[in-house]
Amino acid sequence: MDRDQCLTAGQNGMDKEHKIQIGLLVALEQALATGKSHPELLVILEQLVDYTNIHFMSEQMLMRLYAYPDIAAHEAAHDRLIDQARRVMEDFASGELTMVSAGLLTLKQWLIDHIRTDDHAFHRHLSSHAPAA
Ligand SMILES: [Fe+2]
Ligand SMILES: [Fe+2]
Repeated sequence: MDRDQCLTAGQNGMDKEHKIQIGLLVALEQALATGKSHPELLVILEQLVDYTNIHFMSEQMLMRLYAYPDIAAHEAAHDRLIDQARRVMEDFASGELTMVSAGLLTLKQWLIDHIRTDDHAFHRHLSSHAPAA
């Protein structure tokens, strides 16, 4: 695989991960709306949080590899999203399902915004730079 193929594979991988991330969020919203049981909701919520953590870590590794200059701001955005996911977890643990729905809606809006702005900017950097030595 040459450099361009590697890059395309990396970017396609990121796009796929974003689809899975949003897909898990939507699945959780639907599960809440249709009154699924607490254990069923918890499984999806944990998958969403775990997947989001792994995705953010892999993006941050790529940013270091490509010496991305806006890494600090991007990592701060990830931290803010993780904090919001944590608040949703806490509301879920205390049985505040109305708060969980509201918190998820905020998380979804922030995540979609992040993908469209910060992640898109990182994609553009990847397309025009080689990995740092
Ligand atoms: Fe992302
Ligand atoms: Fe990101």
